[in-house]
Amino acid sequence: MEKLRLGVNIDHVATVRNARGGDTPDPIRAARLAEEAGADGITAHLREDRRHIADADIEQLMDTLTVPLNFEMAATEEMQNIALRHKPHAVCIVPEKREERTTEGGLEVAREENRLAHFIAPLRDAGCRVSIFIAADIRQIEAAHRIGAQVIELHSGAYCDAHHEGRFEDRDRELEAMREMSTFAHSLGLEVHVGHGLTYETVEPVAKFPEVRELNIGHFLIGEAIFLGLQPAIQEMRRLMDGARA
Ligand code: PXP
Repeated sequence: MEKLRLGVNIDHVATVRNARGGDTPDPIRAARLAEEAGADGITAHLREDRRHIADADIEQLMDTLTVPLNFEMAATEEMQNIALRHKPHAVCIVPEKREERTTEGGLEVAREENRLAHFIAPLRDAGCRVSIFIAADIRQIEAAHRIGAQVIELHSGAYCDAHHEGRFEDRDRELEAMREMSTFAHSLGLEVHVGHGLTYETVEPVAKFPEVRELNIGHFLIGEAIFLGLQPAIQEMRRLMDGARA
């Protein structure tokens, strides 16, 4: 099986920084430490309201990272311009609602196919790998394929919530849907990533899916870093992923 990449999402280092309005903790320092600890990529979501990552963070990440940046953004003209200016390795298109606490669901690609096809074309032309964050739903995967995305990221939030709330039948159903849909997406030639809500308890079954190439994990790791330190927290996730894969 190919190695499973770990993308570390550093948004919530910026959330803590912004709570006081100063410079610390610095998400760029977190990104560098994550690289040293074995992260294969760094993920950052520049939201319209700039509640965590700021424009200057993206600039600094582009200047300093030695691993690829996965730039998460909504499908807006403002974000498209920013992505085209920086040309990050990957752009992950996510739905974004102002009132949400986090990215609650996958993108509705099937209903917006035309607009999204036009939206991602210049990003692809600029050399960015375009990823679409979607639910494990065959309609959305087919639509992501038709619009020319190279990657899909399956939203693992429902699976993780069900696990941590003790709804094990729901959890197993969600897991099975992700397993089937990762096989299906791979058969279409899409690269498959998974992300949202993953923890030490939920990562292993997903890491076992042979078609999954990358996991993007943020909130849990930044929280665990309070207790373990950032690098040990990442190294433990890496160990669990590699063990599941072996
Ligand atoms: N992948 C995508 C597309 C996301 O939007 C997020 C959250 O920003 C993550 C992964 C990481 O989720 P979490 O912070 O819950 O690990």
